[in-house]
Amino acid sequence: MKVVRTKAELRELLAPVRAEGRSIGLVPTMGYLHDGHRSLLEAASERCDVTVMSLFVNPTQFRPGEDLEAYPRDEVRDVALAEQAGTDFVFAPSTEEVYPAGYTTSVIVEGLSEVLCGDPGRRGLEHFRGVTTVVAKLLNIVAPDVAFFGQKDAQQAIVIRRMVRDLDFGVRIDVLPTVREPDGLALSSRNVYLSEEERDRAPAINRALQRIRELALAEGPGGDVGAALAQAREILAEARIEPEYLEARDAETLEPIETFNGRPVLVAVAAPLGRARLIDNVLIDAQGG
Ligand code: PAJ
Repeated sequence: MKVVRTKAELRELLAPVRAEGRSIGLVPTMGYLHDGHRSLLEAASERCDVTVMSLFVNPTQFRPGEDLEAYPRDEVRDVALAEQAGTDFVFAPSTEEVYPAGYTTSVIVEGLSEVLCGDPGRRGLEHFRGVTTVVAKLLNIVAPDVAFFGQKDAQQAIVIRRMVRDLDFGVRIDVLPTVREPDGLALSSRNVYLSEEERDRAPAINRALQRIRELALAEGPGGDVGAALAQAREILAEARIEPEYLEARDAETLEPIETFNGRPVLVAVAAPLGRARLIDNVLIDAQGG
């Protein structure tokens, strides 16, 4: 396995891979790897001949006052874990390498980037502008056959899929299931911010989502979304968690829905807990599964 710092070197290393007709998988990350990242890396090395993991804490997707400086970092450990998971190249560029001076171009996926986490009253459009711009750049630098993302960040995956479709990136996007702790808490690099007491309360987030799923299943098409969300809010309230948002939306268009209507539904939640802002979601498919 090799750690690569520059775009030029990475392109040089990947050119013969492509020339030999071997497939390339890309796993974009901000590091501080956990088993969620590991599942993406393992899928990439199973499904592709060569796996590239990018390791870059992307400043443009953090809002002013967010945790950019505090974001946990441990490159030595990340490189070792990436190697264990079958990674061939870790691309760990500097900020200047990714955003050279004078850089002014960005990618915006309108609409999908302006709801849920991107709501103007919350993080706003700028967060996903940062995500789509850096992912577009990584797709251009690596030119992978397949890029891998986690369902944990459901809106991010939906926004990226739309960008790839709208701008004709010739890449397949594979989205893998959320990896969880035994008590249901979704793994996140930001879970290190939780105190022991907050960590004990955090699984209520997944319990609340699972309740909505059960109700959607039990009631079938026509079931009342508002009533299900209210029950989920009670579960959160019992754990003294006040969500920033808890919403059910069409899983493809992210339009709000009022009844479970037989189309796939994304139920997404963001909740502050101590210093952490936790996000999670459940995807309820047409059969309620
Ligand atoms: P990061 O938070 O490091 O996540 C990297 C990838 O791991 C994302 O696709 C994310 O959805 C996935 N992931 C995180 N937690 C997961 C879990 N518990 N189970 C499964 N997958 C999980 O997401 C980003 O970085 C950045 O926004 C990035 C796409 C790299 C752009 O900067």
